[in-house]
Amino acid sequence: MIQFHHVFMTYQNEYKALRDVSLEIDRGEFIMVTGPSGAGKSTLIRLVTREILPTKGQVIVFDQNVAKLKAVQLPYFRRKMGVVFQNFRLLYDRTVAENVALTLHILGTTGRTITREVNQALDRVGLTRKKNVKPWHLSGGEMQRVVLARAIVHDPPLLLADEPTGNLDFATGWEMMQLLKQVTETGTTVFCATHNLNFIQKMKKRTLFLDKGVIHGDRNKLHGN
Ligand SMILES: Nc1ncnc2c1ncn2[C@@H]1O[C@H](COP(=O)(O)OP(=O)(O)OP(=O)(O)O)[C@@H](O)[C@H]1O
Ligand SMILES: [Mg+2]
Repeated sequence: MIQFHHVFMTYQNEYKALRDVSLEIDRGEFIMVTGPSGAGKSTLIRLVTREILPTKGQVIVFDQNVAKLKAVQLPYFRRKMGVVFQNFRLLYDRTVAENVALTLHILGTTGRTITREVNQALDRVGLTRKKNVKPWHLSGGEMQRVVLARAIVHDPPLLLADEPTGNLDFATGWEMMQLLKQVTETGTTVFCATHNLNFIQKMKKRTLFLDKGVIHGDRNKLHGN
């Protein structure tokens, strides 16, 4: 589903954020990436969403070389992914259900399909009770669950999560990790960046260890490259 072939990423300031990264992620895998601040975790994720392009090497997502995607192909490409960030980026004047429905509006879904899919997504994250409240009435953990519902409401084959537990306490963060695990159980590939080693140890999932832009380990890998 995702392949990196000798990828280098150098930002304008000449700092090498990634150096010679090669990896392969299969469909349906749950993969975590960890490492100290500045290691390049978010850079890896931004390359997959094609927010940035590699300086050298190839990034292949859904069998497509992201560098070759044309602007008109991007919306269709991004439709196949959901993203969860540390900062919630919710609309505070809309209800929980309206926030989740936004993804579907953007995709052109209409009518009862929206209601049905929003209800399903809220059910998956356990927020049905809160569907008509506005985000400021929610706890941090609940807000992050709205973000997750919004990211999975269109059933994307790939979910990217960049420090999804960054603003949460341990117990709430752990609940979020369990929800991400459930997302993989429906066949979605999940790629999650976290600097929290506690979660890495407890999840026992495949983990990339990144430091200064270099992968130093790929643990619990089930398949060979
Ligand atoms: N837009 C940018 N312009 C210039 N340098 C950048 C940019 N984004 C990231 N960097 C640099 O690239 C390196 C990797 O950054 P990245 O955000 O990928 O790290 P990270 O592992 O996600 O860190 P954190 O745990 O703090 O989120 C850092 O040294 C950072 O300063
Ligand atoms: Mg980061």
